[in-house]
Amino acid sequence: MKTLPFSKEDVLNWTKNHPTPFYVYDEAGLRKCVTDLYKAFSWNKGFCEYFAVKALPNPSILRLLKELGCGTDCASEPEIVLSVKSGITGKKIMFSSNETTVREYEVALKNGAIINLDDITHIEFLEKIAPLPETICCRYNPGKFRNTNDIMGHLYDSKFGMTYDQIKLAFKTLKEKGVKHFGIHAMLASCCLEEDYYPRLAEEIFALALEMKKDFDINVEFVDLSGGIGIPYKPGEQPVDIFKIGDEVRKVYERMVEDNGLEIAIFTEMGRYITGPYGYLITKAIHYKHIYKEYIGVDASCCDLMRPAMYGSYHHITVLGKENAEAAGKFDVVGSLCENNDKFAVDRKLPKVDIGDYLVIHDAGAHGHAMGYNYNGKLRCAEFLMHPDKSIKMIRRAQTMNDYFITLDIDEDFKR
Ligand SMILES: Cc1ncc(COP(=O)(O)O)c(C=O)c1O
Repeated sequence: MKTLPFSKEDVLNWTKNHPTPFYVYDEAGLRKCVTDLYKAFSWNKGFCEYFAVKALPNPSILRLLKELGCGTDCASEPEIVLSVKSGITGKKIMFSSNETTVREYEVALKNGAIINLDDITHIEFLEKIAPLPETICCRYNPGKFRNTNDIMGHLYDSKFGMTYDQIKLAFKTLKEKGVKHFGIHAMLASCCLEEDYYPRLAEEIFALALEMKKDFDINVEFVDLSGGIGIPYKPGEQPVDIFKIGDEVRKVYERMVEDNGLEIAIFTEMGRYITGPYGYLITKAIHYKHIYKEYIGVDASCCDLMRPAMYGSYHHITVLGKENAEAAGKFDVVGSLCENNDKFAVDRKLPKVDIGDYLVIHDAGAHGHAMGYNYNGKLRCAEFLMHPDKSIKMIRRAQTMNDYFITLDIDEDFKR
């Protein structure tokens, strides 16, 4: 059974002042997760987690992660700005973008971020903007790799990264052009619960690093295993053992890197693993509908959490105060969008839900609020950080109508 780090009473307290829906992030859970990750890779001198900002782009979270030693993985100008304003600067920013604009490269270069090139043609593209930086990373797509799943699709169909031949040529070219420090990045799976994913990925990238040494006398200084580590969304699934993963990567490292007299810093760019399990979307049951099926209508919609609609993802739901109640049947838990895929759950066994009950949607801390949107004029909801004493701090207010209208060509009267 999935448990919660707060009680129904806590939620009743919070909702006295804050209307649902809203997100709550568990600070203690998040801190422990990052601390354990750093312990698991403490054997590696340069280890750094570059948190994938796209997963939870909130400066309060980024500042907390900075305190724990993290950098950021950014993919756009606003993500770089968010990072810098949160105190994460220079080489603590990995700029892992694709189909990058001139403007984005300019901002990344100006801020001294590590540029992770998604394609070989970007060498020339970048050179037209500014002299190549001394440090460059290249993104690798080997075409084949076990563990690929539905979200990433088959690597031959993936738009990301360079082929084997391209990445070798890219490194040779970059060295000839004066680049001095090199890194290799690869993300070949998403939401992967198989603990051998990172060790096997490390093996694949270390092999390439060894070739770079042999063929071009290039010392690859860092390897970025990127994101892709999964979390147990479904009750029966087991969380990965990060210490075991760290240890297995260490064994591969010793055999392939250390024994060859090399030294490589390991970087990760996790998003989901870091914040996913520690974020909760709290929503209220506002309608009950019986037609061909049973529907529980809630005040959140897929504008607040898109994953079920987009990927058919499972998110566990707890009806507060009814954690141990018997299932009363199967229900679709639905939002109010004029879209039939606006469903947080389909045919889900739940206890009897009464109007006014609070429902907690689990594992919404990564790619949750961040993917929100404004379809049907739905306003984005607020985010709160829950401290260990269960007090909450608003770290993003809910959108107002003015926020929604602000980009339109309208007069002041309209806004009022
Ligand atoms: C380049 C890059 N790095 C890191 C991540 C984070 O992945 P995850 O949240 O699965 O750890 C993503 C996710 O899309 C990504 O595209």
